[in-house]
Amino acid sequence: MSQDALKKAAGWAALDYVEPDTIIGVGTGSTVNHFIDALGTMADQIKGAVSSSEASTERLKALGIEVFDMNSVSELSVYVDGADEINAKMEMIKGGGAALTREKIVASIAKKFVCIADESKLVDILGQFPLPVEVIPMSRSAVAREIVRMGGDPVYREGCITDNGCQIIDVWGWNIDAAKDLENKLNNIVGVVTNGLFAQRGADVLLLASEDGVKTIK
Ligand code: 5RP
Repeated sequence: MSQDALKKAAGWAALDYVEPDTIIGVGTGSTVNHFIDALGTMADQIKGAVSSSEASTERLKALGIEVFDMNSVSELSVYVDGADEINAKMEMIKGGGAALTREKIVASIAKKFVCIADESKLVDILGQFPLPVEVIPMSRSAVAREIVRMGGDPVYREGCITDNGCQIIDVWGWNIDAAKDLENKLNNIVGVVTNGLFAQRGADVLLLASEDGVKTIK
């Protein structure tokens, strides 16, 4: 089975978590694109979605799903999103697709975070995938210097402007065993909008696709 077929299996499995007559939180990425396609089959049964990126918004609307401004929504029953890495504590690295800030914002009002992933995303220690940090453009070099002081190896993601008009630094070289701490420390650097560690608010359910099927991990 290809990696994309596994992503599709995980994406479609998340339909089980969609309650009729509710607004669904929708993440970003190639795995989520499969979830959005699946959600399209229920378009007339849900109220709509809150989206974490312009790309997901476009895809949702193309399937006839109404996209709500998050300011008009106080709570979501579920938020469905992929991950670049996830560990056994359900802590994640996200932001490979540069949507980390809106993803974290939408996830923050969800009662349940359902992570959809192929088996390659499950790791023992976070950090092989470079950790994305979204920064206000004028602070990029200052933030990078601070990250070097913290022992990381920051690389500017050339040509990437986020939906918020900001830039991304990808940090290599960290074996992350205290993800909550690092998430807080990075967020305290002036100029950082947010970072791709989802540890304070990790996933509640992982739908992990492999050749053997989709396993539910809680
Ligand atoms: C986007 C993300 C994605 O969830 C993450 O990059 C996984 O992407 P994919 O499903 O394409 O492998 O965090 O910002």
